[in-house]
Amino acid sequence: MRVSEEIKQMLDENIVYLATSTKEGKPNVVPIGLAHAISDEEVLIVDVLFKKTRKNLEENPLVAISFTDIKRLKSYQLKGTAKIFKSGEVYEKAFDIMRNKAEKRRASLGNIEDQEISERARRISEMHKRLRPKAAVLITIEEIYSHIPGSNERG
Ligand SMILES: Cc1cc2nc3c(=O)[nH]c(=O)nc-3n(C[C@H](O)[C@H](O)[C@H](O)COP(=O)(O)O)c2cc1C
Repeated sequence: MRVSEEIKQMLDENIVYLATSTKEGKPNVVPIGLAHAISDEEVLIVDVLFKKTRKNLEENPLVAISFTDIKRLKSYQLKGTAKIFKSGEVYEKAFDIMRNKAEKRRASLGNIEDQEISERARRISEMHKRLRPKAAVLITIEEIYSHIPGSNERG
């Protein structure tokens, strides 16, 4: 299933939620900042902190990603199958995504006016500099649904 250019942009600009489940079907959902479409059918997610999520992915590769773009008034669910890469070309791409997103985040730090939020953002940015991807999670997108009621738009 083809991911549109607009969905690719929305994945870059928003926090997305990744739902996984155990092999018995117990669900788990986590926010993700490091998601990027690397082709028309593939979304790469960087595993830096996964615990339950990683265990679930190893037991059951079926996942869903959900996000809402307030600016565009659009909201989608993408369903797919995940594959974990701990080295090689796909893993290296995860490093690039992390570096690019960290650079963008640092560039936007100066625009935060609230002192307390600005300080928290600076600390998070410092912490991120020390993190390394544990794995790259490549999701092949098989289904796309709009969350907007009455919309049958598929992206
Ligand atoms: C805003 C935000 C963005 C996050 N982005 C990522 C991410 O891109 N990659 C990652 O491994 N963890 C990320 N996390 C951490 C996960 O959401 C989650 O805390 C982690 O996977 C541990 O939960 P689990 O045991 O359910 O997997 C993020 C957390 C927040 C609050």
